[in-house]
Amino acid sequence: MAISPPEQRIWWNQKVERGELVWIVIAFLWGLLMFFMMVYWHLYGKQNLSGEVYRIDPAVYEQRVEAFAEKYKIGEEADMPVVKAPPGGDTYMLARLWQWWPILQLQKGQTYRLHLSSLDWQHGFSLQPVNINIQIHPGIEHIITLTPTEAGDFTVVCNEFCGIGHHTMVGRIHVVE
Ligand code: CUA
Repeated sequence: MAISPPEQRIWWNQKVERGELVWIVIAFLWGLLMFFMMVYWHLYGKQNLSGEVYRIDPAVYEQRVEAFAEKYKIGEEADMPVVKAPPGGDTYMLARLWQWWPILQLQKGQTYRLHLSSLDWQHGFSLQPVNINIQIHPGIEHIITLTPTEAGDFTVVCNEFCGIGHHTMVGRIHVVE
């Protein structure tokens, strides 16, 4: 660590070492390549999520999710409603201290618009075992268009530390045939 100024105060006029210059050029070109690969992977690699993001009042979001859950509820599991989302339509999940609510039932091969938001503070939406990670903030609504390709039980893990109950904040999505 430098605790005194460089001997030559006008250091930026000095010739850059050849080796250093080579690394600067490599890093620059790599960064440029990765920038364009982001767009390519989005279009052809299907790796990046096609998300839409809107501002929303947490209270309004809560009402929407509750109305959705009430309308399409098919059962209960661990004191939480299990909601069968309408195929091809809007489906909702909300994050709050310390739960992902409600439990969703989706159908394999159908496309859904999944809405996600938080009512209190930052939470994480980490869909397991598939590797999808989204930061969820209050006041911001994410809409993800997704089509489950496999049946089974999926877990939503909160991966942003949100306090004493963080480790218990686990949601569920059932995908049926
Ligand atoms: Cu919610 Cu950690």
